[in-house]
Amino acid sequence: MSDKILVIGSGAREHSIVKAIERSSREVDVFCIASNMNPGIANLCTEFIIDDFNNPKVVSRYANENDVSIGVIGPENPLSKGIADTLWDTKIKVVGPKKHLAQIETSKAFTRNLLKKYKIPGGPKYKVFNSISGVKDFLKELGENYVVKFDGLAGGKGVKVAGDHLSSHSEALEYCKELISKKQEFVIEEKFIGQEFSLMSFCDGDTLKHMPAVQDHKRAYENDKGPNTGGMGTYSDTGHSLPFLQKKDIEDAYKINQATAEALKNEFKEGYKGILYGGFMATEEGVKLIEYNARFGDPEAMNVLSILETDFMDICDGITMGKLEELDVTFKNKATVCKYAVPEGYPDNPVKGEIIDVSKIENEDLLFYASVDIKNGVLIESGSRTVAVVGVDDTIEKAEKIAEKEISKIQGPLFHRKDIGTNTLIQKRIKHMESLR
Ligand code: AMP
Ligand code: GLY
Repeated sequence: MSDKILVIGSGAREHSIVKAIERSSREVDVFCIASNMNPGIANLCTEFIIDDFNNPKVVSRYANENDVSIGVIGPENPLSKGIADTLWDTKIKVVGPKKHLAQIETSKAFTRNLLKKYKIPGGPKYKVFNSISGVKDFLKELGENYVVKFDGLAGGKGVKVAGDHLSSHSEALEYCKELISKKQEFVIEEKFIGQEFSLMSFCDGDTLKHMPAVQDHKRAYENDKGPNTGGMGTYSDTGHSLPFLQKKDIEDAYKINQATAEALKNEFKEGYKGILYGGFMATEEGVKLIEYNARFGDPEAMNVLSILETDFMDICDGITMGKLEELDVTFKNKATVCKYAVPEGYPDNPVKGEIIDVSKIENEDLLFYASVDIKNGVLIESGSRTVAVVGVDDTIEKAEKIAEKEISKIQGPLFHRKDIGTNTLIQKRIKHMESLR
């Protein structure tokens, strides 16, 4: 009998999850509840439907009608709506934390307070506010290096960093007042200076199995210029570290993820089952925690799942049944480079509905569909990150060449960052870290 798996979400991250499921040695039927037509996922599925995956009733009914045994939740919104809770309630196992555990992503104040309570290292100086009282004084205390964060899910747009988005304390105060007028809580914290990296761990409630470190590129344009995006591309290195990191940085990130999983269990008397994604900054004073996400990163999932050796279905079983300790989770010793092609004008004024052509990419393994749709039988872009390609090889340099060659074959009003994974950019990252250490 085949396993019946429900994947929730329809971006490139979920496409990479479905590809990993399809590589399983087991017989698997994949079902998908999507927000848009993703032909890459639809081609691999027994059934692909477009419906409201943030609605617990919709997901639960569909999963039960199709006799699904495991749900894998891609994005953060369904986690924040308690989709995992609803599925577990009907005995369906879930890769993805329940709503209260997902607060590690959905509330920045919750996460900062949790780390403080359990004395987990890596946290900044911070304070949580819901009124203007004390804001001025705290900004004064932090000086030039502060960050103001809306305390909730905002697709990365709720965070304003001094020097990047805010050029003075009065601008910061304006932003705080805007949040207060909307009755929103916010966190003000110390700004870290260094190099960011993502360290994701599979977590079964007790045991963590760590994935290779990845670096994302949030800015829309080359040389890290322009507005912030969901991530324009990512790379990972052989040895599963990154060229600018030291062994201790990786070990410290592992320890912080481990301690956070333990703190969550202590706090809620229930284990976190899913992907624990630490967003870290390597700084002069060691590794600092920027934020947690309760899911795979997008694009990071494409890097790590492209080199995953262990059967993904065994990992899903390990996570959901608390048996990760028994499983040897391994990744190929390869470098990866992922690049996203995005609509012209992205992220502020993206073109939408334009025809794109990916048919010149012959190797489907390298191609991941994201914000696309099919109209009159042809592929169109839907306004957000459109398609991604991943190069895998023995060095970042070689993997970058593959990614660049493949992405250049895509036709349509799109652009991508040519600099991601290039030697020039990586040397810059290394020099930056050397200058700080
Ligand atoms: P977040 O949504 O918390 O990941 O924040 C989005 C982005 O803001 C991060 O990827 C960082 O680039 C930046 N950021 C957030 N917090 C800090 C911090 N404490 N210091 C420096 N940069 C930060
Ligand atoms: N790559 C950033 C994120 O997934 O949140």
